[in-house]
Parts: sequence; C-alpha cells; structure tokens
Amino acid sequence: MIARVAVVGAGTMGAGIAQLCAQSGFSVKVHDPLPAALDALPGRLRAALDAAVLKGKLSTQQAERAFHAVSAAATIEELAGADIVIEAAPEDLALKQDLFERLSRVLPDAVLATNTSSLSVRDVTARAAAPERALGLHFFNPPVATRLVELVRAPRTSPEVFSGVWEFALAGLRRTPVDVRDVPGFIVNRVMRPYYVSAQRLCGPSAPPERIDAACRERGGVPMGPFELMDLIGLDVNLAITKSIFEALGRPERFTPPALQQSLVARGAVGRKAGRGFYLYEGGRKTGVNPDAVGAAGGAASADAAWEALRAALITEAESVVAEGTASASDVDVAVKLAMNFPKGPFEWRKESAAA
Ligand SMILES: NC(=O)c1ccc[n+]([C@@H]2O[C@H](COP(=O)([O-])OP(=O)(O)OC[C@H]3O[C@@H](n4cnc5c(N)ncnc54)[C@H](O)[C@@H]3O)[C@@H](O)[C@H]2O)c1
Repeated sequence: MIARVAVVGAGTMGAGIAQLCAQSGFSVKVHDPLPAALDALPGRLRAALDAAVLKGKLSTQQAERAFHAVSAAATIEELAGADIVIEAAPEDLALKQDLFERLSRVLPDAVLATNTSSLSVRDVTARAAAPERALGLHFFNPPVATRLVELVRAPRTSPEVFSGVWEFALAGLRRTPVDVRDVPGFIVNRVMRPYYVSAQRLCGPSAPPERIDAACRERGGVPMGPFELMDLIGLDVNLAITKSIFEALGRPERFTPPALQQSLVARGAVGRKAGRGFYLYEGGRKTGVNPDAVGAAGGAASADAAWEALRAALITEAESVVAEGTASASDVDVAVKLAMNFPKGPFEWRKESAAA
C-alpha cells in the first residue's frame, strides 16, 4: 500500500509529479541537490495550484491542502520512510544509476520508479539493491493534465510490485496506466516517431509543412500537425529522442534523424521557444513558415497523400510494437489517444481504413 511518496528531482517533471501526488491526497517529499531548485519549488507549486483554482479544477481549500502536503528534502536521507520514490533527475544514465544505488541504501523497502523517457529501465535500475522493486513510471508533461502513465516492467520487476504501482496510478492518482515492456521509446515515443520523422521526408514543394499540418488536422482530426507539434515540443528535444531511439533500436533506416531537423537545430531554429522552428513566431504567435524549413525536392504528391502516408506509418509502427510483445493493441490505442489527444488510436484507424 502506497501512502507516502518521495520525488527525486524538482525540475519540470519532478515538480509536476509532486503536484499531482499532492493534489491526489498523498504527502510528498521532494529532493533536489540543487538548492536553487528546491527554493523555487514552493513558488512553482503555488503558481500551478493557483492556475488550477482559476480553471475550476481545484477548490481553494484543496489547493491549500496540496501546497502543504509537499515538503522539500535537501538530502536523500530525509526521504526515508517513503513507500515509493519517483526519480525525475536529468536524463543521464550514470547519474541515475548512482541515485538508485544510494536510494536503495536509504529506502531498502521502498518501490523505486524512474520517469526516464529514453533510457532502459533495466540499465537505470541496474545498481538498485532490489531490482524486483524497481520499474518505470513514465509520466507525460504536464503530469497533472495528461491522464496517461506508462508503467514499464523491467525484466526483474516483480508482478506484485507492478500491480501495486498500477493500483497507485489508477486509484491513487486517477491516471490511466498502460502496461509496457522495457523497450526504447516505450509505447508513445516509439509509435509516434514516424509522425515526426516521416513527416519531414514527405514534405516538399507539393506538400509544404503548413499544408501537411492542415491536412493532419482536417483529415485526421488531430489537434496539431507534426511540424506545429515539433515546434511546441522543441526541435532539439524531439531530435534527441529520435536519436536515442534510433541508436537503441540498432539504427533502423526509417528512424534516421532527418537532415532538415538537424540543420534547423544547428542554426538555433528549435521551435516556439526560439521564435523560429518550422514556423516563425513573434510574441508567441505564428507569423509564417520559416523559409529554411522547406523540404528538399521530392516528398509527397500532396498534403492529403502525406497525411495518408503518415497514418499508414503510425499503423505499421504500432503493429510492430504489438508483434514484438511490447504492449497490447488496446493499450497502444489508449496511450496514443491520451498522450497525443488524438481522436483515434492506430488500430482504430486501421479498422476504419479496412472498412473504407
Ligand atoms: N520534460 C519532459 O517533457 C519529460 C517528459 C517525460 C519524462 N521526462 C523525464 O523526466 C526526467 C526529468 O526531466 P525534466 O524535464 O524534469 O528535467 P529538468 O532538467 O527540468 O529537471 C531535473 C532536475 O533534477 C535535478 N538534479 C540534478 N542532479 C540531480 C541528482 N543527482 N539527483 C537528483 N536531482 C538532480 C536538477 O537540479 C533539476 O531540478 C528525465 O529522465 C526525462 O527524460 C521528461
């Protein structure tokens, strides 16, 4: 039974996970070795909770209770007594391995979970004293607003620990967990890769980025086309994930990091946050297409054809994930819909195109 939660790392994800746990009624201790990160935590939490009150998601009393449920821990030792530790430290294997070794010493009976996006859970938890009590608990940004959580079984995660954390995610945090094996990209980052990589291969004079984005929205009913979405995520952040999955899967041709994205990143055109990515922005508003972002000769015959090809690529990737035994088809659909706000998942699209 999980009652006391510890979070390691008070950055974007750690602060968001702590907020979610506190809003759900758990008491949460947050450790970060950087004093500035811990000092910033109350202000960050207060701002997020105030915003939730303004949106009508929480009452003032609930927000107040959640605020006081979170406390800062300057050392790992202060986390002793927690039932679960959720690690959200930087994406650095050696750093995370060292953390798991130290956490095992301080919390010998706790469940140790990593929020890693792109590292292998088995590798991250390799130095945990009890690998049967270690697993991946992959939240999406922002954790409070995204219902999906990927629960990643490492080879030695015990079924009892997995089901205990499943219950914690489902009943305790009111998230929708999906069951996934420890493979590069888990479900969402893997199945969605073609949306970013293939989109860049499909763009060209007959199918420029803005027309592909519009076709995806209009024909697929998705909230954002691939280029808009990459601008929002950050071309650099998105490229790092592509590169890591590409390497971890043995460099499959279909996931080759696109030359266009690499050159935009090299020029600092990393998306909205830089004022330019595939599009140009002024004061956060889109003002046009970046002239450097037009694909090379070739590409799809039209934006509609590009959407059809993208949808087919997502379906094919989803089929391989299921064929490899990484996750079930229904979990793939749930994961893609909840993480991406897509109206349908790949298998629902497959059924739809078979019926057409
Ligand atoms: N940002 C996202 O969209 C996102 C989404 C899902 C998962 N993740 C994963 O979550 C993890 C954290 O990402 P983030 O975006 O919150 O990073 P971040 O850089 O915002 O935060 C990392 C925090 O860890 C702290 N830290 C540094 N060294 C530490 C140590 N030795 N022990 C504990 N804390 C340490 C830093 O001071 C910082 O506050 C990564 O594994 C990342 O892959 C990120």
